[in-house]
Amino acid sequence: DRVLPLDGVNILITAGPTREPVDPVRYFSNHSSGKMGYAIAEEASLLGAKVTLISGPTNLQPPQTVQTIFVESAQQMYDEVMTHYPATNVVIKSAAVADYRPKKVSATKMKKHVDTLNIEMERTTDILKELGQNKTHQLLVGFAAETNSVEEYALKKLKAKNLDLIVANNVTTEGAGFGTDTNIVTIYDRNEGKVELPLMSKREVARKLLDRITHLLKGVNLK
Ligand code: PMT
Repeated sequence: DRVLPLDGVNILITAGPTREPVDPVRYFSNHSSGKMGYAIAEEASLLGAKVTLISGPTNLQPPQTVQTIFVESAQQMYDEVMTHYPATNVVIKSAAVADYRPKKVSATKMKKHVDTLNIEMERTTDILKELGQNKTHQLLVGFAAETNSVEEYALKKLKAKNLDLIVANNVTTEGAGFGTDTNIVTIYDRNEGKVELPLMSKREVARKLLDRITHLLKGVNLK
C-alpha cells in the first residue's frame, strides 16, 4: 500500500464563525464562510490524516471523509476543542472566533424601549491561547486576520499563544480573507522564518500549509 504523507496523523481543524446570542432571535457574529477551514479539512483528509472538523454555522457541505462537529458559540467551540485536544497531533485554528459576547443573554426577545441601546460585552476564552498553555506534544497552527500591521500582529500572536506556525492574511486585500474562494497568506514559523504566498485558491493555500506541517512533523514522535 502507498503510504500517504499524513497517514496516522490526527488533525483537529476549526472553521467558520461563532455566534454569540443576545436574546433568542439575535446574535453577534462575523463574515467567516468556513471556506478556508473546510479546504484544509478536505486536503488534510486527501493526504491521509484523520480529521476532526469543528465548525461554526456555514452554508458548506462538510467533507464526507472527516468527522464534523457543529457548534455555535465560542464557548461551545472551546469545549469541543478541549475534549479532542489530548488525542490530537496537529491543531489548525482557521475559525473566526468571537472575542466578545454579550454579558447577559435575555431569555425573551428584547423590546425596543430605548433609542440608544447599550449592550455590555465580556471577553470569550481565547481558545488558541489556552491550547498553547497546555501544549504537550501537539503542533499548533493559528491564523491571524488583520487589517493593518499584519506581520507585527501575526508575530505577536505566534509568541503570545505559543504557536508553531501562524498563517497571516490581510482581510482588506482583494481576493483575500473572508468569503472568497482565494486567499493571500504569509506563513510564519517560530524562528520568524516566513513564506509569502501569492494569490491562490484556498485549496492551494491548504495544500501549501499542510506540506509545511508534514515537513515539521518529520522526526516528531506521534502518539
Ligand atoms: O472562513 P472564510 O470565509 O474562508 O475566511 C477565512 C478567514 C479569514 C476566517 C481565515 O483565513 C482566518 O484568518 N481565520 C482566523 C480569524 C481570526 O479570528 O483571527 P484572529 O486574528 O482574530 O485570531 C487569531 C487566532 O486565535 C485564530 O487562529 C483564531 O481562531 C484564534 N482565536 C481567537 C479568539 C478566540 N477567542 N479564540 C481563538 O482560538
